[in-house]
Amino acid sequence: ETIPKFVDSLPKPLIARPAEGKEDSSCREIFYNISMKEKKHKFHRYFPPTTIWGYNGMYPGPTIEVEKDVPVKVKWQNRLPDKHFLPIDRTLHGTMNTPDVRTVVHLHGANVSSHSDGHPDAWYTNNCGKVGYAFKRKVYEYTNHQPAATMWYHDHAVGITRLNVYAGLAGFYLIRDELEKRLNLPCGDYEIPLLIQDKTFNPDGSLHYPDNATPEVPAPIPSTPSFFFGNTIVVNGKLWPYLKVEPRKYRFRMLNGSNTRAYNLQLDNGAVFHQIGTDLGLLQHPVTIESFAFEPAERMDLIIDFSKYKGKEITLINTNPGASGSPHTDVIMKFIVGYECESKDRSEIPHELYPYHHLDAARATKERTMTLASKPDPHYEGRVLHLLNDSMWSDPCTEIVKKDSVEIWHIRNTFFVPHPIHVHLVNFEILGRKTVTDKDFDRDGNYIFKPETLEKPLPFETGLKDVVRTEPNQVTSIIMHFKEHVGDYVWHCHILEHEDNDMMRPLKVIE
Ligand code: C2O
Ligand code: CU
Repeated sequence: ETIPKFVDSLPKPLIARPAEGKEDSSCREIFYNISMKEKKHKFHRYFPPTTIWGYNGMYPGPTIEVEKDVPVKVKWQNRLPDKHFLPIDRTLHGTMNTPDVRTVVHLHGANVSSHSDGHPDAWYTNNCGKVGYAFKRKVYEYTNHQPAATMWYHDHAVGITRLNVYAGLAGFYLIRDELEKRLNLPCGDYEIPLLIQDKTFNPDGSLHYPDNATPEVPAPIPSTPSFFFGNTIVVNGKLWPYLKVEPRKYRFRMLNGSNTRAYNLQLDNGAVFHQIGTDLGLLQHPVTIESFAFEPAERMDLIIDFSKYKGKEITLINTNPGASGSPHTDVIMKFIVGYECESKDRSEIPHELYPYHHLDAARATKERTMTLASKPDPHYEGRVLHLLNDSMWSDPCTEIVKKDSVEIWHIRNTFFVPHPIHVHLVNFEILGRKTVTDKDFDRDGNYIFKPETLEKPLPFETGLKDVVRTEPNQVTSIIMHFKEHVGDYVWHCHILEHEDNDMMRPLKVIE
């Protein structure tokens, strides 16, 4: 419980290297071979090595860097053992007659064909010995036909996503483009992705994940908890690391890769963040913020200017206590600012970042009211089932969307806690939120949409999003354009304990 903080320096995840391929000038194919492996990982200088699952055996996985519109292929290979090292709950969807260890990779935020989206039932075991019903191919194709963005890839296997991601199966995927390159943002050593996750360790240094939902209630074991809060903070694979920085501007691409934990992040000396991007791209103009709420799977693209803080130590802190009660999760990492720059800082925070076309609500051809609610879990008395539109993952698809159509979704959260809702395939804009009563709904439960009554999105939410925080007792309205792909996708809560039980639904795009 008294693990020393700030004793390990922050690692930067390695950049993935494409396989050497046939290089004929006309069509050079970019191909990655990435294998999921069980390995030992050092989380802390004073910890023994810990068993993790990592892409190429690394945690975080290697960062894949691509150019907009340059297609790449990835062969995501499962080279994991047959036994899981975390407790599997056999009552959850997809777990009854399936092998323990199954994986499938979702590129979170990708505009991608459904065959390469990483559908939860497109799982496969080691060497594709067994595959799920939705399995279509061994090699995934990404067209990267979307603006520069901070994306991430992670496991999405049905019923065990929370365990596989917790075990370490997550990495960055950065799309770059010409527009962004012209902006002269901090780059190279001054551009650093930060994967923030909370974890709990057993006394022997192994990763701990609970095998009982509510210890007070007798239950089948293992049983998934409704929430998981780790009591330590890991950034890029190290517990509470420090980073030595020069007194200049740095670009940080932050990702909350935690199972359940939402953060409220700020710098302890009152220094500001210059936000330049959201989940799926750059903002039109930078926004200066002192703190921001950070839900699971959200990304923040931020510049911190350390030039005024020579010789100072600045701590990135979390002011959202959450339900964990751990005093240690209010600290994330520390920046130690030096006195000299290696070279003059010529990077900028331009006022004009990206041309931005807001989606016009008048273009929407369909509005849907989506209700988040709970009910008692039939498998386990005392456990709660979290549901979207009162339906299970296995119920027939109801979100059937036409290709090239614009839809508005009104997400109604009836819980006491926020839920981060994620839609595959698209980016969306947050139109706004509204605190609601029953009067805001018609007799069929459909939300009566009055755009002028909406509360505007928060200052740091104004760009392209793929995850939205839905607040209790509110309707959160989002608008999105299903542009080019058809097929089977999903939408879900990105609290992984909810996604697995049972807050995930099919989404089908048709011609
Ligand atoms: Cu990052 Cu379907 O998830
Ligand atoms: Cu949820």
